[in-house]
Amino acid sequence: MTPQETSKLSKSAQLHRRGLKVMPGGCSRNTVLRKPHPLYAVRGEGCYVTDVEGVQRIDFANNMASLIHGHAHPQIVAAVTEQVQRGTAFTLATEVEVDYAEHMTRRNSGFDKIRFMNSGTEAVMCCLKAARAYTGRPKIAKAEGAYHGSYDFAEVSQTAKPGNWGEQHRPASVPVAHGTPASVLEDVVVIPFNDSELALTILDAHKDELACIMVDLMPHRIGLKPATPEFVCAMQQWASANGALFVCDEVITLRSAYGGAQQNYDIAPDLTAMGKMIGGGFPVGALAGRAEVMDVMDPWAEPVLFPHSGTFSANPVTMVAGLTAMQLFDKDAVEKLNALADYARDRITEAIAIADVPACVTGAGSMFRLHMKAEVPDSYREAFADAQEVARLNSMLDHLFDNGIMMINTCSAALSTAMTAAEIDRLADTMLAGFRKVR
Ligand SMILES: Cc1ncc(COP(=O)(O)O)c(C=O)c1O
Repeated sequence: MTPQETSKLSKSAQLHRRGLKVMPGGCSRNTVLRKPHPLYAVRGEGCYVTDVEGVQRIDFANNMASLIHGHAHPQIVAAVTEQVQRGTAFTLATEVEVDYAEHMTRRNSGFDKIRFMNSGTEAVMCCLKAARAYTGRPKIAKAEGAYHGSYDFAEVSQTAKPGNWGEQHRPASVPVAHGTPASVLEDVVVIPFNDSELALTILDAHKDELACIMVDLMPHRIGLKPATPEFVCAMQQWASANGALFVCDEVITLRSAYGGAQQNYDIAPDLTAMGKMIGGGFPVGALAGRAEVMDVMDPWAEPVLFPHSGTFSANPVTMVAGLTAMQLFDKDAVEKLNALADYARDRITEAIAIADVPACVTGAGSMFRLHMKAEVPDSYREAFADAQEVARLNSMLDHLFDNGIMMINTCSAALSTAMTAAEIDRLADTMLAGFRKVR
């Protein structure tokens, strides 16, 4: 392409061409990719994002469910600006880390102690390492298809497909990255989500080796359908009866209730992984739980069972942003946001009925997901979309995008407190037009 031809491309297309020369795929994060090229943001305000072309869209993605108050919330901006002026990171602890730890442990009586880190991936990794350190056992159990970030063990089976996922009664340990050591696959026991009977049979076969069972209470990739109380209680009971820990990955679902989605169940996880919204828009992860288990990280103990550190862990910018965001996300705000999502689920269900298309909506709390399937999927295997469903879903995503609406690329939404019924109405009306187009 000549320089003249290049200058005729959109700004985003030009930026992607530059990016392709210096980054694999042109970016550092596959989530932002879309065809023919990603779009580049310049500004976000409340529930709107503006791209380099000057196009404004309603943001239902909220940086993959991490911006609980939308973009540039004035109180968070003020608190962060004040902190940045005083310094961003020190080789000293800061008061705000203690303030934030106190706030988070007050939100849930099962959070005796907490430690902060920089991503949900790191939080999950620390849960698994803490569980191994506490129990002295090597294996972990997780649900087929569940996304828990990119730690080797946590990502096993995340992208399992019909060709490699094995038999229903014994799901295979499928690697994500080429070169994953066989020993990693051997140390991950894959169970079917929401199928207690089958899961318990599989767990029984590894009972003396399991450090923990890790469960996401509403796994996005399994269809964003909440875990049944029966499944969750069965997993917790099996873990405690067999010397393993019960770990909840609430990196996404913490937003569902004041102290996390676990408060909707009769359970008491030993450890909980958190991330996303608790950073107030900045990179974050955290791990909280029972004092006795958390103390495997106690550096004053002799020996230290799980030494844990991190250059930017609990940096004061993240701490101040996170604390401000979580103070704003009080019990009333949680309830209000969940009610707004109920309204969205109702309106979308209504649009599906009016258009009379094979589609359904799942989700709970402040998240929802559209499926181009007539029936709500019950498992990862049922939620797995065939080529035709993928094509219809992508057409819907393009239709929404072209009409000023940004969703997570599975056609899921994570609401922010910056939204009102007006944005939901616009989404439902635009979806109705979309259903008529892509039926
Ligand atoms: C349930 C769950 N766990 C862990 C992670 C990893 O978090 P991060 O992207 O901050 O590493 C994610 C990210 O989407 C997630 O959804």
